[in-house]
Parts: sequence; structure tokens; C-alpha cells
Amino acid sequence: MKEYDIALIPGDGVGAEVTKEAMKTAEAAVRSSKIRLNWKWFDWGCDYYLEHGRMMPEDVLDVLSGFDAIFLGCIGDASKVPDHISLQLLLTIRKGFDQYVNLRPIYLYDGVETQLKKAVPGSVDLVVVRENVEGEYAQVGGRFKIGTTEETAIQTSVFTYTGTERVIRYAFELAKRRGKLAGQGEHVGMVTNCSKSNALNYSMVMWDEVYDKVARNYPDIKRDFALVDALTMWFVKNPEYFDVVVASNLFGDIITDLGAMLQGGMGLAAGGNINPERKYPSMFEPIHGSAPKYTGMGTINPLASIEAMKMLLEHIGLGEESARLTEAIKTVLAEGTVKTRDMGGTAGTSEVGDEIVKTLS
Ligand code: IPM
Ligand code: MN
Repeated sequence: MKEYDIALIPGDGVGAEVTKEAMKTAEAAVRSSKIRLNWKWFDWGCDYYLEHGRMMPEDVLDVLSGFDAIFLGCIGDASKVPDHISLQLLLTIRKGFDQYVNLRPIYLYDGVETQLKKAVPGSVDLVVVRENVEGEYAQVGGRFKIGTTEETAIQTSVFTYTGTERVIRYAFELAKRRGKLAGQGEHVGMVTNCSKSNALNYSMVMWDEVYDKVARNYPDIKRDFALVDALTMWFVKNPEYFDVVVASNLFGDIITDLGAMLQGGMGLAAGGNINPERKYPSMFEPIHGSAPKYTGMGTINPLASIEAMKMLLEHIGLGEESARLTEAIKTVLAEGTVKTRDMGGTAGTSEVGDEIVKTLS
């Protein structure tokens, strides 16, 4: 019997509801294997803040460091704690565990409707590799003359050579593993450099130079370049074209909400905060917010969380079990009978989980 310890941080709003479904489907996916998943539930979030004056205990990184992986539901409830404070929970773990890759797959399943009339299921299949610990999120800056008309705010982006190089290299390695273009010509994959070097003349010019330097080591991966503004247009116009896209922290954040729409909505979009060296645990999450007004109604789509759990299983080495879960999701979506409201159906949160569990058994 192999055992894995997984920390669950359901967080706020609908977090607990979707976390339960993710857990349930993971259990079903490993049932026939000699595997035990040990779950530990941590009640951190806005209610914890109201009681303790902080979002999580001070030694959060020590507490989590022994786990094989972390699952995060969703964080934030502005009626209780201002967002820029509550979201520190997420950013502290991302930075503290050097989860410098934010991996966000965008895949359109058969049976899922998207806003894009022409998008073809199966061929919308791309991954955004978002830099996750520096760049625009470095939290360097300050505010001066607060409360006066001369108030000034400075928010500095920080791009280091090391931080840029390692995330771009990860993107190239990923393109090689995916092999999306294999057999179609001289390249096995493509990495699109999401840039803005026409306007950001220091950070993004360096970013482009590092991209070029890394790309030279991967002659079988096609180079591609798009300014971030134009890239949003190409995502809508021609989503099938993309394979791996590498982007800075903020650009990656923005384009993945658009990416979620390509795959059928926020209810389906998942991501992993990865420490590729495995020095620290990685953390997986749906990329949607905590939707406080829907709390307890049992109507939220759990698929984004189930997708995140699937990524978690793969990350800890349970590739087969993760693939099993993928197949079950595919089957349920293709049948199209159990869908939550955001997808045009009437099913509740737990019915979707139940149907996937049933398909797995
Ligand atoms: C995301 C979210 C976070 C981010 C927020 C909640 C801080 O939008 O994970 O995409 O900006 O990274
Ligand atoms: Mn976001």
C-alpha cells in the first residue's frame, strides 16, 4: 500500500463544496490501486481571519511542508476581509514554496459549449505556463503622501534572469513532452512567447532575450511570438493554433481567464502552482473565485476542482489514476446528461461528482 498525504485548504465561499467533490472523485480514481490518500483539512480563510486576525497560522509553511501536495479550493470573501489581504494566503504559499510555474491547461472537451462558435472540441488544446512568483506580483513598491491629492503609488515589476530563464525552460520542456506537433513537420511542439517588449522596454526586452537564449537549446520546438494584447485576439480568433504559451505573472493571469472561456467557462478551468524541483509541495486549485453568494446552494460546477485534483494526482506520480479520472470526465461530458447550470444543465454540484464516481466504478 502506497500512501500520500494531501493537504486540503477549502478556503471561502463555495470552496468546501467543490473540494468535497474533488476528493470524492480522487478516491474513486485510486480505489482499484494499492494506494491510500490521507487527507488533512485546514480551515484557513476569511472566517479564520475574523477569529485570529490572520488568514492562516504564522507557521503555515512548516505545517504544509511535509505534505505530498496541497489542494486549494478558493480564497476570498470581500464582505469579511479585503481581497488584497485575504489573497495573501495564496501568494504566501506560491512564493514560500517557490511554486514558480503556474500551469494552466486549456482544453475543450467534447460535449462542452463555448462562447466561441468555431472552436473545435479536442483541438482547443493548449497550456499556459505562467511565471508565478515574481514579475508584476513582486510586491515591491510603496505609497506616499497617502490621502492627499499628491498621493503617489509605485508598484515595481521585478524580473530576474534566473526567474525568467527557469520558467521559459519549463515551457520548452513541456512542449517537448506534449509533442502536439509531432509528425506534422520539422517541429514536435511550439512555445509562444507572450510579451510586451514594444512598450515595456526593460523587463520584456530582457524576457525576449532570455526566451531566445533558451529556444536555441530546443531546435525541434517551434518559436512563436505574440504581444499580449494581440495574443488575446489570436486566442479568440484561432485558439487551435496554440500549444504552450509562456507568460509573465500578470499577463498569464489575464490570458488564462480568457482561456477559461475558450474551454467552456470558469467552471472548468484548473491550475497547478508547481515547484518543479519538488523541494516543496505543489498546490492545485480551480482558478475561479469563491462566489460567496452561491455558498451552500450546491449549484457550483465542481469540474474545475476535479480537473485540479487530476493534475495533483499526476504530479504526485499517479499518472494512471489521473488518466482514469480524465476518461471519466470525458465520458460524463460527452453523455451530456449531468451538467451544472453554468453549462446549461440543471444538475447540482454533488451530482456531477457522483456521476464521475459512478463512471469510475
Ligand atoms: C489567480 C487569481 C489570483 C492571481 C488572485 C486571486 C490573487 O486571480 O490565481 O489567477 O491573481 O494570481
Ligand atoms: Mn486570475
